[in-house]
Amino acid sequence: MSYLLRLRELINKPSLVDFSGEYMALDQSDLPPLLIYDATLALELFKSKFLTPLNFIGYFKKLLRLSEGDLPTIDAIFEHAPIMLHGERHLIARKDFILQFKIIERDLMLFLPQYTQSFFREWASKKQLSPIEFTQNYIDGAFRGIFEKYLNIPYGGLPALPPKIFFLAHTLPNAGEAEDCLNDLKVFIDQRLEAQNRNASEAWALLAMLVLGFEPLEGALMFGLMRGEEVDIYNVENFLRESAPVNFLGRVATEDFTIGNFSVKTGQEIYISPVLIHQKSDLSSNGRKENFSFGKGLHTCVGQAISAKMAEHFFGELQKYSHLDFDINHVRSIRDFNLTFFKK
Ligand code: HEM
Repeated sequence: MSYLLRLRELINKPSLVDFSGEYMALDQSDLPPLLIYDATLALELFKSKFLTPLNFIGYFKKLLRLSEGDLPTIDAIFEHAPIMLHGERHLIARKDFILQFKIIERDLMLFLPQYTQSFFREWASKKQLSPIEFTQNYIDGAFRGIFEKYLNIPYGGLPALPPKIFFLAHTLPNAGEAEDCLNDLKVFIDQRLEAQNRNASEAWALLAMLVLGFEPLEGALMFGLMRGEEVDIYNVENFLRESAPVNFLGRVATEDFTIGNFSVKTGQEIYISPVLIHQKSDLSSNGRKENFSFGKGLHTCVGQAISAKMAEHFFGELQKYSHLDFDINHVRSIRDFNLTFFKK
């Protein structure tokens, strides 16, 4: 089994993990990729200047056995909105993102309450709701609202948003469909920005936001819908910690380095799993309840405030519709790239 599938197996079956340790090797090679599940070690690693984010598009292609040239728009998003890179380009891109996200957060608050109320009203009349369709449509509508406001276009004027992108069970045609959809969206946004004499780089940031934000947010809201009985979905901070929908953060060492007894060699890959870190912390008697769901350090998620707002409004409205009949028995989940739900 490839170490990437082993990683997925361990995240889905935490009983296979020896939580008395801090990390484990994912294969028997000379330079094994390491899976980290200890909070203290993870915090040290997040601070290390010798680790850089893995190209997770490369990871995705490897798993799907795609070739280098497949998914050019997705590649271009990461090249032109270098938010997941390291060093100077990342810092500059991050500053731009944060400014853009402030505008988006402000716009979101102008339409999210009204949008959420209308959405629930419309769906409440349906019998036996599919929780997957419900959540997907909610997030799709919210992101469309964000884009329409940002680009000053009328309601309903945006082309289709892409279907799920990072999903291991994809076949190449599905990955291709997401790629084509992203490309159409890019062409459309470029035209809008040009017509408004705006900076073309804004398009890449919007698309990066979609690619990085859409799926984890959907995973988190679905988790809440499915587990609302056990998890306090009204405490947004706790709920987002519990759901931890991004399953691992990949890094690669640019130099040999050591932290205490932990040594890493140049080129070695490291996978830090928020959900496993939370499980180990919860098992320990002095378990710190720190939240790793949004990552830590230089690459901490810039979409946290947006995610928290959406979760707050979604579950706040859901509370008023306690009679909704969600067909949850026909849904199963897997911790894939992100936490992902399917119809059984
Ligand atoms: C519950 C929802 C979300 C979760 C759990 C989540 C989680 C994460 C995590 C763990 C990282 C760090 C990745 C790493 O260190 O390798 C990250 C980065 C990022 N997220 Fe989120 N995210 C969520 C929603 C969003 C949303 C809604 C957006 C956009 C609106 C967004 C935009 C980003 C961006 C741009 C980065 C890259 C930051 C950087 O590299 O400097 N995320 N997210």
